[in-house]
Amino acid sequence: MANTNLRFRAATQDDISVLKQLIESAFRAEDSREGWVGNSQLAAQFSIEAKNIKSIIDNPESLFLMAGDANDTLLGTIGASKSSPNGARLFMFAVDPQCHRSGIGKQILTYAEDYCRREWGSKVLGLNALSNRENLISWYMRRGFQKTGVTTPFPLEEFKDLDLPDDLHFVEFEKAWTSSYDDNPATQPTTGACA
Ligand SMILES: CC(C)(COP(=O)(O)OP(=O)(O)OC[C@H]1O[C@@H](n2cnc3c(N)ncnc32)[C@H](O)[C@@H]1OP(=O)(O)O)[C@@H](O)C(=O)NCCC(=O)NCCS
Repeated sequence: MANTNLRFRAATQDDISVLKQLIESAFRAEDSREGWVGNSQLAAQFSIEAKNIKSIIDNPESLFLMAGDANDTLLGTIGASKSSPNGARLFMFAVDPQCHRSGIGKQILTYAEDYCRREWGSKVLGLNALSNRENLISWYMRRGFQKTGVTTPFPLEEFKDLDLPDDLHFVEFEKAWTSSYDDNPATQPTTGACA
């Protein structure tokens, strides 16, 4: 295991194929953490279109943050968009499966929170997770995200061949700050380790 000091930058159009590859491999990966993936057959079907990644990169109010090693090899990413004057949303959060559980996810989330607060003045951050991913949900809650009480439907009709819970839905979360980033920056993230 080698320590990994992450280097962050915004993705450009040159990064679209490597982003697609990393996001799809992360979401499709098997993971023995109980309640982390939810349903592995559903996860295995995950895909994202290059044109959707491109539109996020092209939009001045959204981006993919790339977390790389010293050689700029991509280890993880997260999408962020400014959703209102005070709010931002995080999505497509993914870490290279070979690096899962090494603290890289925590570092990326902390960096993304800081980015939205510093660059966009965000006071509230939103994200969602599938309702059957209990441990992932607990992990977000340990990171300070709280359930808003709002849920978003999951398109069960598109996955009739899978054995999914009838009440599967997305759980919406928010994390809010009362002080500005300058008054209260996040603590320095710890260094992750990746095989
Ligand atoms: C979600 C994701 C980005 C997290 O990245 P990560 O690098 O694995 O996360 P971290 O290493 O920072 O956090 C690890 C958590 O896993 C758990 N964990 C770590 N080691 C573990 C082990 N040996 N056994 C069981 N659980 C373990 C712990 O809960 C730990 O959090 P804690 O320190 O607060 O207890 C990553 O799992 C991923 O890419 N998943 C696929 C895509 C996805 O589902 N994205 C989120 C959509 S909502």
